[in-house]
Amino acid sequence: MKEKINLTINGRSVTADRGMNVLEASLRNNIYIPHLCFHAELQPAGACRLCMVEIDGQRTTIACKTPVEEGMTVRTESPEISETRKVALELLVADHDTDCLNCVQNTKCALQRVADHVGMNLKRLRRLKFREELLPIDDSNPFFTFNPNRCVLCGICVRTCSEIQGAEAIDFTNRGSEAMVAGFGAKPRIESNCESCGECIVRCPVGALVETDYERPTHQARTVCSFCGCGCGLFLGVRDNRIVSAKGDINSRASQGRLCVKGRFGFRFVNHPERLTSPLIKRDGEFVEASWDEALDLVAEKFSGYKGNQFATIASAKCTNEDNYLTQKFTRAIMGTNNIDHCARL
Ligand code: SF4
Ligand code: SF4
Ligand code: SF4
Ligand code: FES
Repeated sequence: MKEKINLTINGRSVTADRGMNVLEASLRNNIYIPHLCFHAELQPAGACRLCMVEIDGQRTTIACKTPVEEGMTVRTESPEISETRKVALELLVADHDTDCLNCVQNTKCALQRVADHVGMNLKRLRRLKFREELLPIDDSNPFFTFNPNRCVLCGICVRTCSEIQGAEAIDFTNRGSEAMVAGFGAKPRIESNCESCGECIVRCPVGALVETDYERPTHQARTVCSFCGCGCGLFLGVRDNRIVSAKGDINSRASQGRLCVKGRFGFRFVNHPERLTSPLIKRDGEFVEASWDEALDLVAEKFSGYKGNQFATIASAKCTNEDNYLTQKFTRAIMGTNNIDHCARL
């Protein structure tokens, strides 16, 4: 069990685990501190400067990089903090494409929450505006789109790609008001090392990184990915009886919320019009639809004509361990041969 630290936030006595930072401690105790660049799974970067707090005996500092200490007294609001946050926010929003109604993050967006809490000086906002034209959208990746006009430069995608995925496909490029996230050499995503895992998309706090053709599901079903035998846990989002999204299950012991490109974006085959939904049997040189009983009878009849080394099985990495166990059992015990291999070994 983790050692508990006692501290006071806004006059309230609270406890936190040793090793937590002040931002985590506040959020765990339902005390909201505005923040954009912090993510609990990543190293804090201290980039957005929104999580300013006052701590007795210390200068005004950022909560996400300050570890909790026994007896600490923290204030999350004051006129000075409020003014500092407003300026930090206005610099982020001045060139932001705030067409919220056309943004998939609308109502779930961390920037909206920050703006709601901090407020903005609209006159100053207009003066801070740097660009009249919108920057080009990077839609080179078939699975997701990057809209730099909605990016708040929090760096969460960059740290996710490096610390979680280990791909290091993206980083900051350019400086000052020209700064943006891109592939190495300011190249589009498709020309980078990007593995299309989508881990950056799920952590982007705003609508800058969004899944192509995203539809918000009306409900979700917990299941296991069927693409390989790893058994990653996921939630499939459903709308109008169609699967429209996939989200990693943080409580899955096999995957802890992570998914690869297939698990995250490969679900569309389920509703694809060309998907086979019944067995096909070749008759007179043409594949024709058949019932499962007909297909299984035909396979059993064909199999019964072979025994021993006339027969071989190739098992599949798409099957579960249990399926593959049964496949080898069938091959050895029923068909009488050790001629069995697995596609993952080829
Ligand atoms: S990212 Fe947030 S603030 Fe920006 S357009 Fe989307 S919903 Fe609105
Ligand atoms: S999709 Fe994955 S590999 Fe590509 S940039 Fe995002 S985190 Fe990196
Ligand atoms: S794309 Fe999203 S996660 Fe990446 S820096 Fe911009 S706002 Fe942050
Ligand atoms: S959340 Fe602390 S600086 Fe961004």
